[in-house]
Amino acid sequence: MAATPTFEEAIGLTAEPIAVFDGDARLHLANPAFETAMRPIGGYLSRGTAWAMILSEAERKGLLGEGDAMALRMIEERYLDRPAAQPEVRVTRADGRVARAVLSRVSGDGFALSLREPEDRADTVAESQLEEIMSKVLQACPTCLTMSRIGDGRVLYRSPAAADLLGKGFNGLAHFAHRGERADFLTALLPAARVDDMRITARDADGETFPASISARLIDYRGEDVIVASIDDLSDRLAADAEIERQKKRLFLLEKMSALGEVLSGIAHELNNPLSVVVGNAHLLLEEEIDDGLRPRIEKITAAAERCVGIVRAFLSMARERPLDLETRSAADLLGSAADAFGASDRSDGVDLSISVASGLPDLLVDEIQVVQVFVNILSNAAQAMAEAGTGRRIAATAEPAPSGVRFRIADDGPGVPEDIRDRIFDPFFTTKDPGEGTGIGLALCHRIIAAHGGSMELEPPGRATGASFVVDLPCVPGGGDPAGA
Ligand SMILES: Nc1ncnc2c1ncn2[C@@H]1O[C@H](COP(=O)(O)OP(=O)(O)OP(=O)(O)O)[C@@H](O)[C@H]1O
Ligand SMILES: [Mg+2]
Repeated sequence: MAATPTFEEAIGLTAEPIAVFDGDARLHLANPAFETAMRPIGGYLSRGTAWAMILSEAERKGLLGEGDAMALRMIEERYLDRPAAQPEVRVTRADGRVARAVLSRVSGDGFALSLREPEDRADTVAESQLEEIMSKVLQACPTCLTMSRIGDGRVLYRSPAAADLLGKGFNGLAHFAHRGERADFLTALLPAARVDDMRITARDADGETFPASISARLIDYRGEDVIVASIDDLSDRLAADAEIERQKKRLFLLEKMSALGEVLSGIAHELNNPLSVVVGNAHLLLEEEIDDGLRPRIEKITAAAERCVGIVRAFLSMARERPLDLETRSAADLLGSAADAFGASDRSDGVDLSISVASGLPDLLVDEIQVVQVFVNILSNAAQAMAEAGTGRRIAATAEPAPSGVRFRIADDGPGVPEDIRDRIFDPFFTTKDPGEGTGIGLALCHRIIAAHGGSMELEPPGRATGASFVVDLPCVPGGGDPAGA
């Protein structure tokens, strides 16, 4: 007959220290784990030793505190059948670890003492509260947080803000718009298990890309490498930075123009009188009986001096504060007159000019002649640039509502303005044209006229389309309608 497995054998196998006492409160059996844990009183752990003796020896050897020994005696007397009512009792094991002593009823009126892992009630409460706090914080947190497996990118957790920004896809890899950037991110993350403020192009829930900054930590979660990352949408910040940069440039340009203007107008005034002497005398000389060999030279001097006079006049007319003759005009009137004047010039040959004016634009208070001159200048520049480069033939002039009035945009599909001269084209006398072809005063004059109207003028940053695009903002008649057309 096969032997029946015994209760003793089973207890002997468990890792939990257990001692069983009989109905007379005498030791029946202590398993090896109990003997190890209570080694200092090993001599007392033989069958038949009284419970009270074991307690007092354990107290003497420092395994039990005085209060704990008393508590165990009381539990044995009163609470064996009510385990939930047992006060907590601590035992210091031979190895110095603290265990929780639990008494349980066993059959035959006996009981068992087991030593369990301490369960710190205070910590447990704190931990469950902490869990609640964590989950509340994560739900309310406006940060875009994700937790994803490094191996396959599977998203394990995302904060509500992350779901809003990045959608609810399963794969964290999809948050990177470019594979190369994700590779760079992992390369940076793996060695130090952290990445701070790395610039990436992220992809949002609708598949649109946006500039972002990612910070991440690599952690171990249930034995797997997991990335905890926060992603910041930088679109607004970058747009604000760009706007500040643009305003700085505009201010710089204004200051530069006024400083240059002052110097140049001084020079122009000084040159005016001696130049008229040169031109006048050159003309007089030509009327004299002179050697035929000299005549071509004098003619050259006359022509060159006249060009100087032209330049000085052009500049003086720009530098002079011409009072504005303000009238109420519509954007359509202004662009129409500019198109007529441009069409009448031979520069417009072969140019395809289109005009589109949004409806409901507010009226503008302008000096029509001067503003039309600005538009004609921009159109002529575009036509010249296209003719010279042999590329492009279209110019589109548009007018649309702007925050404080009307925004005009004149864009061509020609060669565009090279990056290295973008900052200089508004400078007086800056030109890329051959001598005699242009004075470089056109855009400087335009800028001045628009500024005098309280507006602004600039070359748009290069976009996707080729060509140059000039934007002119003019304020509307004060109190004369709602600029935004709302
Ligand atoms: N639409 C355009 N496309 C490309 N380059 C342009 C355009 N408009 C202006 N530019 C550049 O800006 C420079 C300055 O223009 P601006 O009108 O001030 O002088 P200019 O045309 O050279 O001479 P002026 O107007 O006195 O005859 C030009 O020489 C040209 O290099
Ligand atoms: Mg010009």
